[in-house]
Order: sequence, then C-alpha cells, then structure tokens
Amino acid sequence: MSHAEDHEGTRRDFLYYATAGAGAVTAGAAVWPLVNQMNPSADVQALSSIRVDVSGVEPGSQLTVKWLGKPVFIRRRTQEEIAAARADDNAALPDPDARNANNPGADGGDGNRTLPPFGGAEDTGEWLVMIGVCTHLGCVPLGDAGDFGGWFCPCHGSHYDTSGRIRKGPAPENLPVPVAAFVDESTIKLG
Ligand code: FES
Repeated sequence: MSHAEDHEGTRRDFLYYATAGAGAVTAGAAVWPLVNQMNPSADVQALSSIRVDVSGVEPGSQLTVKWLGKPVFIRRRTQEEIAAARADDNAALPDPDARNANNPGADGGDGNRTLPPFGGAEDTGEWLVMIGVCTHLGCVPLGDAGDFGGWFCPCHGSHYDTSGRIRKGPAPENLPVPVAAFVDESTIKLG
C-alpha cells in the first residue's frame, strides 16, 4: 500500500468514527465528545472527587468508572502483566514521561505509573489507574488487546503496553494517570 493510500484509509476511518457521534459504540470504540472535556457542567464539577470500591476487582481484570465525564480504567494487574511492563522499562518508549499526576516529571518507568497500596506498604505494581482516553484523538482503547498485551485503540491503531504506555501507532503520549490514592485497603479516591 502506498503512503497516499494509507493516509486515505486513516482519514476515512476517522471520519466514520466522528460521524458515529456521541453515544455510539462501535466494536467497543466510542468517540468521547470533546464537549465533555471542555464544558464540565456544575453537577459534574461537584463530583470532582469520587471514591471507588475496588474490593471486587480480581487480578487480570479492570473496572471502568466514569469520572469528570471520562472513563477511568482501574486495572488490577497479574504478575505477568507487571513483569512484562517492567521488562520494557528500558525499551524505546515513544513517550518517556510517566504522565502521572501523582508523580510529576518522573520518567516512564512502570514503577512511576502505578498506585501504591494503602498505608505506605510497598508498591508491587498491582494497581494501575489511568484515564481511558486515547491520546491521539480521544477514542476509548480496548483492554487485553494490541501487540503489547495492554490496550489497543482501534480508531487508528495505537498500541499501549501493560503499563498503559504508548508503544506503536499515532498516539503521542502514554495514557495519563489521574490524581488518585488508596484511602483504605479497598477504596481508591480519584481527584
Ligand atoms: S484515537 Fe486515533 S489511535 Fe486512538
């Protein structure tokens, strides 16, 4: 396929998803309306901090909650997922920043992106909390997918690893980690 054809295909896909519009879910990918990000209503602002019970989240599964109008992925990672992420800490990462609001300016090592457990216990890397919005054009990536076993954005083919770091495709940045903390053994506070 020539470069020109490739570009054509990408553009057509984007227009298709954009046309699908607010609320449409196509093969698990939804365009997150930009208006949600730019004009939070008063009731949304009132919930700028929420608490999420994660006691039912098993290793290898993910809870998705809506917060400030965006999906937030709360992933409890398996030992294999943690090991895969850490093994790639020294790989060529397109975005070398942790993108972690709790850890500003840190490098993109997996240990700089995870959420420490309650009470100052050692962070084994089990919990990963991220805004589930592709950093390319805002689709919602799919979990347990892509070339790196993390998340895959089907809109234009961005592959994120098990740390949520962009590894391949057009997305420029890692999936961002919002302000978050455990406030007891099984509750995460966002914001
Ligand atoms: S929105 Fe384009 S790859 Fe995700």
